[in-house]
Amino acid sequence: MSFAPAIIPKSKAEEPEGYRTTSDQVMNNLPESASVKGKVFIVTGTNAGLGEESARVLAAYGATVVMASRNEKAANESKKRIIARHPKASLKWIFLDLSDLDSVREFAKQFKALGLPLNGLICNAGIMASPYGTTKQGFEMQFGVNHLAHFLLIQLLIDDLIKAGPGSRVICVSSKGHRFAGIRYDDIGFDGGKKYDAFEGYGQSKTANILCAKAFNEIYSKQGVECFSIHPGMVATELSKSMSPESRETMLKGNIPNPFIRTFVKGAMMIQPYIKPLVGTLKPSWMKSSEEGAATQIYAATSPDLNGKGGAYLEDCQIYRPLTDEANDATGENAKRLYALSEKLVAQYK
Ligand SMILES: NC(=O)c1ccc[n+]([C@@H]2O[C@H](COP(=O)([O-])OP(=O)(O)OC[C@H]3O[C@@H](n4cnc5c(N)ncnc54)[C@H](OP(=O)(O)O)[C@@H]3O)[C@@H](O)[C@H]2O)c1
Repeated sequence: MSFAPAIIPKSKAEEPEGYRTTSDQVMNNLPESASVKGKVFIVTGTNAGLGEESARVLAAYGATVVMASRNEKAANESKKRIIARHPKASLKWIFLDLSDLDSVREFAKQFKALGLPLNGLICNAGIMASPYGTTKQGFEMQFGVNHLAHFLLIQLLIDDLIKAGPGSRVICVSSKGHRFAGIRYDDIGFDGGKKYDAFEGYGQSKTANILCAKAFNEIYSKQGVECFSIHPGMVATELSKSMSPESRETMLKGNIPNPFIRTFVKGAMMIQPYIKPLVGTLKPSWMKSSEEGAATQIYAATSPDLNGKGGAYLEDCQIYRPLTDEANDATGENAKRLYALSEKLVAQYK
């Protein structure tokens, strides 16, 4: 599959409103009545990137954040970085490996044992265009990690969100990459990998994130839980680490036609993990920082502007129409179909 160029602003003048909004600005703009002080949020994938930034900003403004990730050492380092900036941050960590539905169940059990309320669940963790692989239960990896495990997590925690009362939110972090593919209802696993394409796998999982938010919203908004999906923008994070070298090359070709600049960016990506502690993240100016990227999920998780608008898809802290008819789902039938399929697939692991 060819990688369609990302839709990115070519100059500052083309940047849509909200493109450069940061997560701190979102929090500063919240009215007192919507403050996160004393509220509890779960964020998945908090060891790095948008997840760590989401955990940081929520904790900075007084929320307790349960950080859900699969690497304890990285989680401790992430916690340390947040506490260095916000010494009073209230952070807890619970192990969660989204490639194993048993781990999802265990996570929910451990969260419930804490006896905390739950005001928001940000399903952020994800992998992109990874080589073919399967989860512990045999599901194609991108669909399994990005969608199915989060689907089960939402199901297991929905009662806690309902209990926390109206205003509770679920955020499914999708991507503009949802345009790469819809849901392969009759062959969700790409014929055991024989028909696998890494970008189609990503597209399928990110379409699922949008439909998942719509489906849960349809059922649970009446009980006070509104669900949104978002695209954070093109953000300089470690997301490409899960890609094969071929997929990385395809993605770079789609975004950076100039071969010299492409070689430079590739080199910068390779040395990034080593130089980040010294010089911070290297990025071209059109890319968002983590603070700008996390702004949309933080806005979706907290802003009263969105009350009653559950089911919507957001970019740049604004509601947008998803890029495909399937994800836009004008009739609601696609969300229902995805919900029914996901329900069937996770049923034996609840
Ligand atoms: N960056 C972008 O430009 C961009 C654009 C569109 C959408 N997004 C979406 O934004 C979300 C966050 O990505 P990011 O850019 O912040 O990437 P990132 O820096 O790579 O962070 C992804 C996080 O997900 C975690 N994760 C991956 N597999 C997991 C598993 N099996 N169990 C538990 N955690 C797992 C990673 O943990 P480990 O460290 O243990 O691997 C990491 O903490 C993703 O859903 C991605 O699709 C990002």
